[in-house]
Amino acid sequence: MDELSRFQRPRFARMYERTSAESERRGTAGHRRVLLAGLSGSVVEVGAGNGMNFGHYPPEVAEVVAVEPEDILRGLAESAARRAPIPIRVVAGHADALPAPDARFDAAVVSLVLCSVPDQRRGLAELRRVLKPGGELRFFEHVRSAMWWRALVQDAVSPLWSRMAGGCHLNRDTAEAIRRAGFQIDRLDEVVYSPDRGLPAMRHILGSARAGAAPPPATRAARRRGRGSRGTGGSGPAARW
Ligand SMILES: C[S@@+](CC[C@H](N)C(=O)[O-])C[C@H]1O[C@@H](n2cnc3c(N)ncnc32)[C@H](O)[C@@H]1O
Repeated sequence: MDELSRFQRPRFARMYERTSAESERRGTAGHRRVLLAGLSGSVVEVGAGNGMNFGHYPPEVAEVVAVEPEDILRGLAESAARRAPIPIRVVAGHADALPAPDARFDAAVVSLVLCSVPDQRRGLAELRRVLKPGGELRFFEHVRSAMWWRALVQDAVSPLWSRMAGGCHLNRDTAEAIRRAGFQIDRLDEVVYSPDRGLPAMRHILGSARAGAAPPPATRAARRRGRGSRGTGGSGPAARW
C-alpha cells in the first residue's frame, strides 16, 4: 500500500522486536496491565507495533482492531493476535486516517505511539472521530521532561534520535496535546523508568481521557498562556523529572 511506504522502517522494526522483551521485564509489562485494566467492548489500538499489549487485554473486551502501518511489525502483531486471549484483528493503516467509520469504538488505546505520529493533533482528532460519544482514550507515552535542563537535552537530541528510533520524539508534551484535542483527562499518573539498559530514565504518562464536547477551561487557559501543563496527577519525584 503506497500510502504506508513512509512508515516502513525495517531496521527499527527488527530492533524493536529484539529490545521489547527486555523492556517488558524492566517494567513496561506492568504499565501495560494498568493501561488496559477495566476496558470492555470494542477497542481500537493504534500503532500496535509487534502486539505487546495483546496479552494484557481483559476478557471483557469483545474485539480489538489493531492498526499498524509498518509491514514487519504488523506481521509480528498478526502472530501475537493468534496467541491472544481475545479476538484481535490486525489491519494496515495509520493514525492520520484511521480505517474505521465514525463512532465505531468504545475505547481507543495508544502506547508509545504519540511520540512517533507525524502530527499529534491530526492523530488525536482521528481517535476522537472513531470513538463513540463519551468513549475512552487510554494512553501510555513517554513525554518531555519536567526539568528544564533535561528538556533542553531532549530538544537537542530529538532530531537524531528520531532518525534512529522510528520517528520518535523525546520532547513532546503529550498530555497537553490530548487536552487540546478536546479530551478531558480523568486519570493521569506519571512513571519514571528506563525501558532499556542503554537508555536513561524517562518520564511517562499513563492514564485515561474522555472525548468531551469542548476543550475544558483549564486547557484554554494554558493555551492563552502559551505554555504546556504538568497534568492532573503525578505529584512527587516523577512530576519533577
Ligand atoms: C515504539 S513503537 C510502539 C509499539 C506498541 N504500541 C507498543 O506499545 O509496544 C511505535 C509504533 O508506532 C507506529 N507508528 C508510527 N507512526 C505511526 C502513525 N502515524 N500511525 C500509526 N502508527 C504509527 C510504529 O510503526 C510502531 O509500531
